[in-house]
Amino acid sequence: VTDVAFRACATDELGSSTVAQILDLCHACWPDGDFTQDDLEHALGGRHFLAESAGRVVSHVAVVARGLELDGLPVRAGYVEAVATLPPFRRRGLARRLMAAANAHIVAASQLGALSTGEPAIYERLGWRRWMGETWVREPDGTLTRTPDDDDGIMVLETPRTRPLNVAGRLTCDWRTGDVW
Ligand SMILES: CC(C)(COP(=O)(O)OP(=O)(O)OC[C@H]1O[C@@H](n2cnc3c(N)ncnc32)[C@H](O)[C@@H]1OP(=O)(O)O)[C@@H](O)C(=O)NCCC(=O)NCCS
Repeated sequence: VTDVAFRACATDELGSSTVAQILDLCHACWPDGDFTQDDLEHALGGRHFLAESAGRVVSHVAVVARGLELDGLPVRAGYVEAVATLPPFRRRGLARRLMAAANAHIVAASQLGALSTGEPAIYERLGWRRWMGETWVREPDGTLTRTPDDDDGIMVLETPRTRPLNVAGRLTCDWRTGDVW
């Protein structure tokens, strides 16, 4: 891939035109309004991994910090959001390359990686494991609620700071508007 440049930066270093390009990219990759304003908010506030061609963002991965709970114990997680490659740039390894950089960031900075996907194969090849247990959300008032629709789509990445992991256990996320996972 010769005509594509790679970079990583924090959200506050992006500039509003790059944020707008990421939003355009996500709208192109999730048509029919499937990428919502909440989905954009979920992808901001952490670190972005970008592939750019002719000055435009053509592939993107975000990692944001989230508080999860593993079998009731708090875990500082790097949560992957808004993984997308523009259709003409697909099948060239761009998402894989950006995810490899995101993996390295999570391993260096977080106690666990986590993400929600309907496309587990891409992540499995990069060392992510499917969550086999129950998923839950901690509501704003502290109540724990099951999220059964998400059980099959959650994946985790171990880091050197991950406590011994039981992937059949209970994984809980913090509350947010829109899709909690
Ligand atoms: C999923 C998506 C990000 C992949 O982007 P990409 O840059 O084409 O991915 P890559 O070229 O790096 O391919 C990564 C791996 O997935 C595989 N892959 C990519 N697209 C695939 C497809 N449509 N079907 C099956 N496998 C696919 C590749 O074989 C590759 O695996 P390998 O290199 O180990 O053989 C892109 O198709 C997309 O934007 N889809 C719409 C949005 C989406 O579904 N995002 C992910 C949801 S969490």
